[in-house]
Amino acid sequence: MLILGLNMFHADASAAIVVDGEVKFAVAEERLNRHKHFGGFPALAVAACLDAVGAKISDVDHVSVGQDSDANLIKKVQYALANPAKILNFIRLRHRKEAMRDVRSLLINALDVAPEQLRFREHHLEHHIAHIASSYYCSPWDEAAGFSYDGSGDFVSTMMARCAGSEIEVLDRVFLPHSLGSLYTMICEFIGYSKYGDEGKVMGLAPYGKDSYCKEIEKLVTPKEAGFHLDLSYFKPLGSNQGMQVLPDGTVRLARHFSSRMEKLFGEPRLPHTQIAQRDMDLAYALQRRFEEVFFYLLNELHRQVPSQNLAMAGGCALNSVANGKIFDQTPFRRTYVQPAAGDEGLAIGAALHTYHAVLKQARRYELKSSYLGPEFSDTHVEGALRHAGLQYRKLDRATLLEDVASQIAVGNVVGWFQGRMEWGPRALGNRSIVAHPGLPNMKDVLNARIKHREWFRPFAPSILAEHQHEYFEHDHPSPFMLHVYKIRPEKRKSLCAVNHVDDTGRLQSVAREENPLYYDLISAFHRKTGIPVILNTSFNENEPIVCTPEEAVDCFQRTRMDVLAIGSFMVVKPPERETVAASSVRVETK
Ligand SMILES: [Fe+2]
Repeated sequence: MLILGLNMFHADASAAIVVDGEVKFAVAEERLNRHKHFGGFPALAVAACLDAVGAKISDVDHVSVGQDSDANLIKKVQYALANPAKILNFIRLRHRKEAMRDVRSLLINALDVAPEQLRFREHHLEHHIAHIASSYYCSPWDEAAGFSYDGSGDFVSTMMARCAGSEIEVLDRVFLPHSLGSLYTMICEFIGYSKYGDEGKVMGLAPYGKDSYCKEIEKLVTPKEAGFHLDLSYFKPLGSNQGMQVLPDGTVRLARHFSSRMEKLFGEPRLPHTQIAQRDMDLAYALQRRFEEVFFYLLNELHRQVPSQNLAMAGGCALNSVANGKIFDQTPFRRTYVQPAAGDEGLAIGAALHTYHAVLKQARRYELKSSYLGPEFSDTHVEGALRHAGLQYRKLDRATLLEDVASQIAVGNVVGWFQGRMEWGPRALGNRSIVAHPGLPNMKDVLNARIKHREWFRPFAPSILAEHQHEYFEHDHPSPFMLHVYKIRPEKRKSLCAVNHVDDTGRLQSVAREENPLYYDLISAFHRKTGIPVILNTSFNENEPIVCTPEEAVDCFQRTRMDVLAIGSFMVVKPPERETVAASSVRVETK
């Protein structure tokens, strides 16, 4: 049975194909059309899904969309009637619903097929149920508490659910305009981070702040029963598409969220690309702290209703890996499953798996253990891209490739590591990664100066051999998708100085051999050379969506100052730069 899942006309449009209950392929449109956070129709992703399983659209039995404009209609109408100025927006959204409904025409146009070739049944699933489904149906459990939170989706910002067997029972919803995601976005905008997806940057900035504004920020959101209320006087009134707009070309744009009351209280908002003041750091600190307090309040409420040890979680806010890392200290939950594409691209697999289990009543047996669900490319394709670029390369056997790349990392060189299937979700997890030595004091600056050009305060992440996690981190709950931040043990901070954030934490990826043998063996080879079972892992890109094809990887390698490219079985080494980190400065742990 073939089910095509879609997230469309929403940020991070995507498609996934589920064959007999297993996700076989999934990709966000941005990786294929190179338009970051693209929010239109995922035409290329749909074609790639069908191609990956050798199917035609006529073979597809069900198409499932992770959005249902009819969901929570009464709440939407009530809001529109209470806010007459918003009625026009409401009508516009209803028109958009008609476009959403016309999935058949969209597929006919995208794939250039005749209408009679389509025989699928169509399903629309409420946004947050699709989020919870994306995590629960991919988890190893047959019961769990389900939690989803983000800016908004189908007029809801937060959902709590009881998950058991094939069913997801919704227990509570928090309706707009009350939204922890909107609160986070509002303060991000106020301190100058106003692009869609900038929230992760502010999470990284927060530990540089002090407790100056916690009392003020606390007032902005109040926990209440199984939910919370925002003080709406700090926000612009809820506008079209809840502050997020998708332009006709698929660009996702945020409208201003904060009201003049924020300015009265905290002064002028910071303009993007200007100096970050202590005030901005302190606001980031207070925001992250209050966000966590309300988050843990909600999780404890959820646990009271669903006293399980298992928490299946998704939604854009579930990418807040700092909050995720504290769940075990702050709530009774003992295990978490956060789907790698916790944001809106994940709706595609959530909608498809929900159709399979909850609608078609098929039993659970699938578990998503790795994120490698995207396209892959043959060595022949890779060699063609290298030749076309005029690069000198060597073809190596597996063992030599691993030894040589580990040696390059160990002497302080920066390596583009392009292997196998592309990751699903926003994190590079060892197949489209730039890898480097985690124990060199200047490696963060080297990466930023040469390739990434990121804000100075953003940390780089460590990939660690799973069995060594407990030696280096204070928590040993696995973090296979880089969605938890844990404290690094004091005695290990020096050897991980390039990935140790200012608050002595790291957003780790635990790497188990069965999930990615090649990447595991690369870290192992580095471990043998240096005594450190960790490498620095950042995404393979430069201010663009993560590279997908060999051509994009080669292009990124050539236009940046990366030292080495390891792509498929091939290795390319640039002539050394004078300022390359000297081998003598490598701080090596003794075994
Ligand atoms: Fe969402």
